[in-house]
This record gives sequence, C-alpha cells and structure tokens, in this order.
Amino acid sequence: MEYSIIADKLTKKFGDFTADNAISLKVKEGEIFGILGPNGAGKTTLISMLTTLIKPTSGHASVLGHDVIKEALEVRKSIGVITEKVTMYPPLTAEENLMFFGRLYGINKKDLEQRINEGLEEFQLSKFRKRPVGTFSLGMKRRLDLVRVLLNEPKVFFLDEPTVGLDPITVSFIKKKIRDINKRGSTIILTTHIMQDADELSDRVALIDHGNLMACDTPRNLKKKLGRNATLENVFIHYAGAELRDETEKMSLAPRRGM
Ligand SMILES: Nc1ncnc2c1ncn2[C@@H]1O[C@H](COP(=O)(O)OP(=O)(O)O)[C@@H](O)[C@H]1O
Ligand SMILES: [Mg+2]
Repeated sequence: MEYSIIADKLTKKFGDFTADNAISLKVKEGEIFGILGPNGAGKTTLISMLTTLIKPTSGHASVLGHDVIKEALEVRKSIGVITEKVTMYPPLTAEENLMFFGRLYGINKKDLEQRINEGLEEFQLSKFRKRPVGTFSLGMKRRLDLVRVLLNEPKVFFLDEPTVGLDPITVSFIKKKIRDINKRGSTIILTTHIMQDADELSDRVALIDHGNLMACDTPRNLKKKLGRNATLENVFIHYAGAELRDETEKMSLAPRRGM
C-alpha cells in the first residue's frame, strides 16, 4: 500500500489555543479523502500545514514522501491547492491569468497553450477567455481556479471547501469534476462541513472536531455502526455531540493568515 500523505501527531497552536491536536492520518494513493468537521474544527489549519503554508507547532507530515517542513519546495511542486479564496488577478483576463500561472509552474509554451484550451473547454469557460476575471461570478472563478491548478497536473490535489457559496448546478458540476480528476489519477483531499458532499465524494473521511480527530473510515463503515438508516450527520453527532458551535474569532492570539 502506497500512501500519498502521512500525518503523525500533527499539532498547531495559536498562542495557547490548539487548532489541531496531534492529528495522525494516512491518505492512500488514488483516494478521495474528506476532512469533515464544523466551522472552526481545524480543517483549514490542517490543510495549511499539509500544503506547507503554515508550519506545525509539533508533529510531522509528509506528502509523496517529502517532509512538509524540510522539503517544502518538493511538496509544493507536486501538489495543487484550491483555497476558499480565489487566487486570480482580477484585472487580467482568464487567459492571461492562466498564462501567468502556467509560466510560473514552468510549463513550456506549446503544452501550456494546449492545456489552457482543453481546460477552458472542459470547464465551459472558453467563451469567457478574453474577459477580466474581476467580472466573473464566484462559480466561474472557482471553475477557472480548477483549470489553473490542473495546468500543473498535480499528483495530490487539496481542495478547501470546494462547494461553499455556489449554486446547486455549479456544486453538482464541481463534484463531477472532482471525480473525473480523481479518475485521471490525482489523489484528492477535500475539506467540507457539508456532510452530504463528504458522503457522496469521499472514499474515506476523517471527522474532526475542536482540533481532534474523532474517527476515520469509509462513510459506509461509519454509518453501519449506527444502524441501517444512519446518515453521516448522525455519525458526526454521535462522535461530537449536538452542542452548538458558536465560534468567535480569536483575535487576541495571533494575526490571521493574510492570504
Ligand atoms: N492565524 C490564526 N490565529 C488565531 N486563531 C486561528 C488562526 N487560524 C485559525 N485560527 C482558529 O483556529 C480554529 C480552527 O480554524 P480553521 O482551521 O480555519 O477551522 P475550519 O477550517 O475547520 O473552519 C478556529 O477557532 C480559528 O479561529
Ligand atoms: Mg476552513
């Protein structure tokens, strides 16, 4: 068995607040792995450590065998990351943005032009290629961001809340694309607080709450333990309790990531 990601007691503290508490997990090559938890559970923080955007306070992690601290550059070369915030330059057109990022990834001009054409076609954005990204709807920006990341043909693809804030048609389109990308050979790690999305997409899910990993298994096995008609939502409440999560920003601890 090959693992694309191994996290060993990965911990992140902001001041004396623990956002992720000794999380250990292994993501198998070729799987769609869901990180599921309510707002403030520590999902984005976990992804940020695995993608080398922030350093763990303690613990270790590797992506494709490369240590996220000691070999951060190697990790960055082989991954694609979609964060909640779209990373495009608003005044540039869709095509200009893709050209810019493609060059940054070091793709030669001929391959790049071909990948841009194919990507825009696949994500139904060809007719908007000459439009500034600033004029795009959120759904269009999200799709374009997927085209951007795919230019680099990532072996491991991280998506932080890929369906949040989108209309149902775009959500369904993006879910289908996530499956397609996975079938073409990328391992996928996605975070979501939407139980149904995690259930539909993931081969396995990790449930996290208050920075703690509570369970990690296939949605099917997790549900089976609770009985015949259980949903992933029932499973989550079984582990985490039904107490409301009223999150307040921990402003006093450390500055927020400025990304
Ligand atoms: N830079 C930061 N400084 C202080 N607290 C932070 C910072 N980043 C995240 N947190 C806190 O850590 C917790 C987990 O955040 P996050 O990983 O973004 O959760 P999720 O993505 O699951 O909604 C939250 O309580 C959040 O307020
Ligand atoms: Mg988040």
